[in-house]
Amino acid sequence: MSKKTYYISTPIYYPSGQLHIGHSYTTVAADAMARYKRMRDYDVFFLTGMDEHGQKIQRTAEAAGVSPQAFVDAMAVDIKALWELLDVRYDGFIRTTDPHHVQAVQAIVQRLKDQDDIYEGSYEGLYCTPCEAFWTPSQAAEANNRCPDCGGPLEHTKEPSYFFRLSKYQDRLMELFKREVPFVLPASRANEMINNFLKPGLDDIAVTRTTFDWGIHVPFDPKHVIYVWIDALSNYITALGYPDEPALFDKFWPVDVHLIGKEIMRFHSLIWPALLMALDLPLPKRIFGHGWLLLKDGKMSKSKGNVVDPVLLVKRYGVDAIRYFLLREVPFGADGVFSNQALIERINSDLANDLGNLLSRTAAMMVKTFPEGLPEDRLTEDVDRELDQLADKTLEEVERRMEDLEFSLSLEAIWAQIGRCNKYIDVTMPWVLAKNEEDHPRLAAVLYTLADNLRRIAVMISPFMTSTPVLIRGQLGIPETDEFTAWESAGQAGLYQGNPQVKKGSPLFPRIDVEKELAALEELLS
Ligand code: MSP
Repeated sequence: MSKKTYYISTPIYYPSGQLHIGHSYTTVAADAMARYKRMRDYDVFFLTGMDEHGQKIQRTAEAAGVSPQAFVDAMAVDIKALWELLDVRYDGFIRTTDPHHVQAVQAIVQRLKDQDDIYEGSYEGLYCTPCEAFWTPSQAAEANNRCPDCGGPLEHTKEPSYFFRLSKYQDRLMELFKREVPFVLPASRANEMINNFLKPGLDDIAVTRTTFDWGIHVPFDPKHVIYVWIDALSNYITALGYPDEPALFDKFWPVDVHLIGKEIMRFHSLIWPALLMALDLPLPKRIFGHGWLLLKDGKMSKSKGNVVDPVLLVKRYGVDAIRYFLLREVPFGADGVFSNQALIERINSDLANDLGNLLSRTAAMMVKTFPEGLPEDRLTEDVDRELDQLADKTLEEVERRMEDLEFSLSLEAIWAQIGRCNKYIDVTMPWVLAKNEEDHPRLAAVLYTLADNLRRIAVMISPFMTSTPVLIRGQLGIPETDEFTAWESAGQAGLYQGNPQVKKGSPLFPRIDVEKELAALEELLS
């Protein structure tokens, strides 16, 4: 029987500057979901990539004194290196300068023209280059004549342009937003789309430009280049080989979830489905617009007293700490403030204290009292079984939360179980049991229960953290085989084999001196 499939995408990022922790946020989230689904035995396609055309890239390359192609080629190396550093395991990496993508977008535009979804006209209005977005004077007026999305200055532009009949799809889009299974999540974002765009009525949109040329040329009128958003949105199907090589497309389309930041919901939930309707293709199953990571004084930028460079953060704290923090700190749909202090505090409390100490205490007591391995003679009590049952419940909760992309709540549930294990140590007092030989059968059961729970925890954290589960298993002498690493094994108590391989290793996460570290970071940024 063929496996169930799961297709998840991130936005394709503009390579106009180095990516920061905000871009890493979406990508790590998608990676966690992809890892989770692989563990649940899905055939997964996880797509990310780069949005390489458009006026912004052209200007940035000019300012750097290189051709746009040379510029994006260099950025592709950095971006792929960043995903490698963050242990992001994608299945596809699309670049919109890929020849297949270019041809496919031309074929799409040609088809839309042939069926009269695209017509010739002329555009006069406002344009935000950083957002690559057109705005009407009335939309701009409501935002003090600045870009309603980013608040930046707008440029006046008047140019011949082809238009896409977005207005024709108004009713079908409205129906899509009203269907029972939500098309857009969180619900607040769906309401924004309905109230701000669908209810006032959609206008046709300009889909070609003539004032610069770094883009895909319009096949039937090559002085025009295709508007970068039409080019970019198409990536989700061209990366699967649409239209010429349909093997992957037939297998994975429609996408299970487009993961995006909330600011690009308009493009994904209105323009993209309308294009797909015009192409007579199935629509995405779900679009999830997560919130922003903000700095305490607003938008993210390097000059604001926080390190937001993911490369530097990973080098300082390790990849698992960063992945954990990104997905744990802020509920996925909401905005949240990123600060180095919050990161360090989470590392200390959740990772070094709660998880790290649980492992080191368990391993140390095992090595000390039972250097030959846990004896078979173990005296089990109700508290042990209760802890195991709570692990079953934790697993159920994680599975439920993951379906809704509730990463922080999944991690919260796992950390609640870690907390219960630590409490179990306080209650069972293994250090007291160790003193009396006749209590050793009871001690063996306590240590077995802890090690077995850590084994299950190691599995549950695997979508989020990549090396920590291996380190936990290494210290407890658990083999790296499917029997102990597969998702299902987190649902079974009693798989741990109390063999003699336990070793007390170095701490999973060394504690950080908060004051010293903040001072060091300040120095680094000055
Ligand atoms: N190229 C377009 C997307 C085209 S998709 C068909 C684009 N690129 S971008 O480089 O500006 O990336 C925007 C995305 O990066 C956001 O939607 C979000 O996924 C992520 N983020 C960038 N900054 C972020 C924060 N400060 N916080 C959270 N996510 C952030 O838009």
